[in-house]
Amino acid sequence: MKKISLIGAGNIGTILAYSISRKNLGDIVLIDKVDGLAAGKCLDLSQSLAVDGIDLSIKGTDDISYIKNSDVIIITAGIPRKPGMSRDDLIETNFKVMQSIGEAIKKYSPKSFVICVTNPLDAMVWSLKKISGIKKNMILGMAGILDSARFKFFLSELLKISVSNIDTMVLGGHGDTMVPLLDYTTISGIPLNKYVELNKIDKKIIEKIVDRTRNGGGEIVSLMKNSSAFFSPAVSAIEMLESYLKNQKKILPCSVYLDGEYGISGLCVGVPVSIGANGIEKIIELNLTNTQQSQFKQSVMAVDELIKKCKKLLV
Ligand code: NAI
Ligand code: 2OP
Repeated sequence: MKKISLIGAGNIGTILAYSISRKNLGDIVLIDKVDGLAAGKCLDLSQSLAVDGIDLSIKGTDDISYIKNSDVIIITAGIPRKPGMSRDDLIETNFKVMQSIGEAIKKYSPKSFVICVTNPLDAMVWSLKKISGIKKNMILGMAGILDSARFKFFLSELLKISVSNIDTMVLGGHGDTMVPLLDYTTISGIPLNKYVELNKIDKKIIEKIVDRTRNGGGEIVSLMKNSSAFFSPAVSAIEMLESYLKNQKKILPCSVYLDGEYGISGLCVGVPVSIGANGIEKIIELNLTNTQQSQFKQSVMAVDELIKKCKKLLV
């Protein structure tokens, strides 16, 4: 069995542990700094597996050294947004969390495939990579799959067609400047723009959906008040995990360290990548229109500002 460590046993960590166990993807170590929280959840989860006849080792602890020699580590530790807060407001608190986790990964499990979920996403992936020393093909952040799923869901509601008929792509940082790519969105193979034209749909409605996607996380926070989204972030991270464990080589939008791709060096930003047994096996460079390029640039600049703040916190 593969060893999958989940750091953070809050809302997303809990759904991750539940889904990984039901899919039988590997033995699980669940870690949280709150004494007893992960241990209690794991005991409960193990007992639930007895109902379904699934044999898996599930360990809950507050001791991070249990991540030793993990195949995969998924990080959701940190604080989530509260109403009125942007993802960026989390930076100082969550940077400190990444600092302690990054040091532990360096010490106990430097060869793992690491998926970060904690916000502000792109800056946290950059910080973790820097602190843990994990190679650039083995560390990445989850955001684009979630943002694309939101865009798909809103489109499917509007167009009254199955979400499974919609393919889309969202680029850039996980923030208000993310760039949903209409040119790379298709409805059962038909380009969205063509579909909209054929069905005489007002383009302004599509623009509203783009805005709603950009604010998709905030919409949920303002409804739930004390928590942010957790089902969709968890299943999005699972899609990345499965592509790695099963060498599926899926092309997925993820936040990765760019080393010249898209003309960017030294930042982590969301772009399409192929994930297989060797981690990030390919970074796919899309042709962007002038408008998309300038939106992407703006998004990259927003990420750059946050990473500059992390660089200051590093010293
Ligand atoms: P949560 O508050 O339910 O869980 C976070 C857990 O982390 C808590 O149980 C806390 O005790 C634990 N924790 C804090 N510091 C720790 C440390 N040093 N070691 C171990 N555990 C520690 O939060 P939730 O809803 O699970 O969200 C987690 C993170 O994911 C937040 O930063 C949130 O903003 C982010 N998020 C990211 C998304 C994305 O698309 N990338 C989507 C949704 C949320
Ligand atoms: C989300 O997009 C808050 O990043 C979190 O739901």
